[in-house]
Amino acid sequence: MRVLRAIVAARCTEGIPALVVGGTLIWMAAAGVRSAASDDAPFYANTFGKLPSVAAMTDIGRALFFDASMSASAKVACATCHDPRHAFGPSNDSPVQRGGSDGRRFGLRAVPSLMYAQNIPPFTEHYFDDEGDDSVDQGPAGGRTWDGRAQSAHDQARLPLFSPFEMANASAAAVVTRVQRAGYAAQFRDTFGDTVFDDKALAFKAVLMALETFQQSPTEFYPYGSKYDAWLRHETSLSSDELRGLAAFNDPAKGNCARCHPSAMRKGVFPQFTDFGYAAIGAPRNLGLPANSDPSYYDLGLCGPLRTDLADKKEYCGLFRTPSLRNVATRRVFFHNGVLHRLEDVVRFYAERDSRPQKWYSRGANGATLKFDDLPMRYQGNVEPLAPLDRHAGDSPALSEADIKDIVAFLNTLTDGYEPRQAR
Ligand code: HEC
Ligand code: HEC
Repeated sequence: MRVLRAIVAARCTEGIPALVVGGTLIWMAAAGVRSAASDDAPFYANTFGKLPSVAAMTDIGRALFFDASMSASAKVACATCHDPRHAFGPSNDSPVQRGGSDGRRFGLRAVPSLMYAQNIPPFTEHYFDDEGDDSVDQGPAGGRTWDGRAQSAHDQARLPLFSPFEMANASAAAVVTRVQRAGYAAQFRDTFGDTVFDDKALAFKAVLMALETFQQSPTEFYPYGSKYDAWLRHETSLSSDELRGLAAFNDPAKGNCARCHPSAMRKGVFPQFTDFGYAAIGAPRNLGLPANSDPSYYDLGLCGPLRTDLADKKEYCGLFRTPSLRNVATRRVFFHNGVLHRLEDVVRFYAERDSRPQKWYSRGANGATLKFDDLPMRYQGNVEPLAPLDRHAGDSPALSEADIKDIVAFLNTLTDGYEPRQAR
């Protein structure tokens, strides 16, 4: 028997509370039927000719998500970059994917997984964790993308639809015209009302809402179906290497990973493997990233250049949002700049960043290691200093090779699609 897997999340989007219960969007602010989306109605207020059902919006959202004709090049769908066979992350080991009007322009960052993303709270600079000591300001947290600049899945969807590196649409009207020509146009009208296409702004809102609703579908986006979840539900056992890996992952004297990637059940809620907070891990510069061929280009995360509202907060330079580690073993690119390609190397980087920096960073003209080579010197003080990232050159690494292998074995238990009967 499956125990309750759904998460109950109360959201406050654009000031309007919308309640999501087990993937079902319940409008708190549903207003009467109005015809124009261009007025100031809150996003979740129903302004369609018909009250769309969650099931119908999920189906439309899925069709949109897989539809390459939604892009200017007619080559790039959301699913091209967010492949469902790879936890809605990238299917290849390229650090960035191509898009744009000709389908050939390179992006700037690694594609994140979209699974479990609906649990990310809206961005705030002052996060108070309601589970722990709620009087402690934990600093910036939440928001979509690596720098949290999008507040919700529908805000987020605007970015790829218009980004010159991604789907490169010139306008909302251009998106709507493409949808109108798609095979599912009739289904779209059935869902949102016969006249939905008469008002381009209204139809575009329907596109965003359908994409957002699809991304809340529990079976596809938050199944809680990994071996580790089965173990938490007492349906299976973990092998001895997986158990040792879990212990090293949690142990403050070893990995100390759970400090930022929490692994324990809290109040009956399955762990998300992220605290939604921001940290500067000091990932090495990726010379394979086309944007980095310009030596003066730095992706500084929270303080820019993609995010623009916090450019003055120098203490935020180099900080990126902690990703969930659920399904991380399905990836072949790691960190915001896709610099690492093997999970084992990511864990080894944490173990050796400070004890063996020469293994991870480039060298200057005089042969000296340029530690934190993806951050200008003036921001290097922002880099995370606590365990396991607290060693000095020449110290023994924070984790042994055996610990690293065990942690990787444990991280492999976080992949969805596990059947308890296959238990080893
Ligand atoms: C060309 C590749 C590409 C395409 C196409 C694309 N994305 Fe993305 N997506 C990305 C990248 C790269 C990021 C991270 C962006 C950043 O951090 O600035 C991202 C981030 C996201 C996020 C935020 C996830 C998180 O963890 O915060 C969501 C949600 C998302 N995309 C949904 C979509 C949807 C919906 C579509 C289609 C309308 C889409 N994406 C199309 C590459 C792509
Ligand atoms: C101080 C908080 C913090 C600690 C401690 C921490 N992480 Fe992370 N982790 C992050 C952040 C932030 C990122 C994203 C960094 C970036 O992209 O620049 C990240 C990224 C990762 C990634 C890459 C995920 C992806 O989708 O690219 C893996 C794997 C990972 N961490 C595993 C671990 C393990 C294993 C440990 C313990 C050895 C650990 N982390 C300790 C904050 C932390």
